[in-house]
Amino acid sequence: MKIATIVGARPQFIKAAALTSELREFAEEVVIHTGQHYDYELSKVFFETLDLPEPDYNLGVGSGTHAVQTAKMLMGIEDVLVKEQPELVLVHGDTNSTLSGSLAAAKIGIKVAHVEAGLRCYNRSLPEEVNRVLTDHLSGLLFCPTQTAVDNLEREGIVTGVHLVGDVMKDMLKKFLSAARDREVLPEMELGDGGFHLMTLHRPQNTDDERNLRTILDAVSDLDTDVVFPAHPRTTTAIERFGLEEHVGDNVRITDPLSYLDFLALLVRCSKVLTDSGGVQKEAYLLEKPCVTLREETEWPETVEDGWNILVGADKDKIISAVTSDAAPGARRESFGDGKAGHKVAEIVRNSLS
Ligand code: UD1
Ligand code: UDP
Repeated sequence: MKIATIVGARPQFIKAAALTSELREFAEEVVIHTGQHYDYELSKVFFETLDLPEPDYNLGVGSGTHAVQTAKMLMGIEDVLVKEQPELVLVHGDTNSTLSGSLAAAKIGIKVAHVEAGLRCYNRSLPEEVNRVLTDHLSGLLFCPTQTAVDNLEREGIVTGVHLVGDVMKDMLKKFLSAARDREVLPEMELGDGGFHLMTLHRPQNTDDERNLRTILDAVSDLDTDVVFPAHPRTTTAIERFGLEEHVGDNVRITDPLSYLDFLALLVRCSKVLTDSGGVQKEAYLLEKPCVTLREETEWPETVEDGWNILVGADKDKIISAVTSDAAPGARRESFGDGKAGHKVAEIVRNSLS
C-alpha cells in the first residue's frame, strides 16, 4: 500500500510529523515537498528536529503569485503521482500546497485525504479559505479536528467520509512539550518566566498592508512588556520595504523564525500571545495562554467562545486593551480531541484502503 503525503509550508511539516510513523506501520509513505517554504528556518529545521524523514521529492517551486506557485506545484505533483501511483494522497491544512496536492490527485483519479478538514472562517478574501473549501470538496476522506468542522462540512452537503479525530497538533504538543521545557532559549534571550508576550505575524492583510503593519507595530511598541517576535521573512521584508524600522519599539525583540521546540519553549513561558496564525491561536489555547488575534475572524471559534482568544484585527486601541486586560478566561472544553488524532487517522486510512 502506497500513500503520498504532500507538504510545503511550516505548519505542514509539524502536522505531517504527527502521522508519519503511524502511516509507516502499514504503508509505504512517499513524501512530496513542494518547496513552497525553502529557508532553513521555515523548512529543513523541522525535518531535523521532528523525527520527520527527508522528503522523497522536493519540487523546489519557491515563492510566486498564487497562480504561478499553484500551477508549478500542480505540474510537479502530477509528474510524481503518475510515476509513484499511490493509492491515496494525503494533504494537510490550507496552503497552496494543500490545494495543489488535492487538485492534482483528484484530476487523475487518486483518492484524497484531507487532514484538518472542515475549518471555515467564512471570509473568502483569505487565500486559505479558498484552499480549504476546494480541498474539502475534492476529498474522499475528511479528518476533522473539531465538531464545528464536522458541522461546517454538513452545511456544505459533505457527510460521506467525514471523521472527527481531533487535532494532530495536539498530538505534537503532547509529544514535544517536555523536550520544549528543557530548551535553554529563555536564558539565552535573557528573558524571565512570564515576563514577556510572544507575537507572530504573517498574514497578507497584516504584512502587505502598510497601514495595518504600522498600526500593529505601534500598538505593541506602546506596551510596557517585552514582546518577543520571531518574524516570518515576509514580515521582515515588509518592515524594510515600508521603512517601518522606527515603529519597532525597544521592547520588541525581532528574531528569526524559531524551531518548533524553541517556539514552544517561549509559548509555555510567555504571558500572552499575539498572532494572526491559525496554529498558534490553537496552541495558545491548549497551553492556557490568553491569545490576542490580529484578525477579524477565526477558523477556531472554540478558542473565542471559551474566552481564551480575542479577535482585534489591526486596531491599535483594541490590541492594547485586549493585551492589558486582566479578565479571567473561562473553562476550556476538550474541543480538540484527546491527542491521539494521528493514530485515528492512520487506522481509518488503513481500513479504507484494505
Ligand atoms: C503560507 C500559506 C499560509 C500559511 C503560511 C505558514 C498560502 C497561500 N499561504 O504563507 O496559509 O499560514 O505559509 O507559514 O499557501 N518567503 C521566504 N522564504 C521562504 C518562504 C517564503 O522568504 O522560505 C517569503 C517570500 O518573500 C514569499 C513570502 O514569504 O513571497 C510569502 O511566502 P508564501 O509561501 O507565498 O506564503 P506565506 O506567507 O509563507
Ligand atoms: N512555529 C514555529 N516557529 C516559529 C513560529 C511558529 O515552529 O517561529 C510553529 C507554531 O508552533 C505552529 C506553527 O508553526 O505549530 C504555525 O505555523 P504558521 O503560523 O506559520 O502557519 P498557520 O498555522 O497560520 O497556517
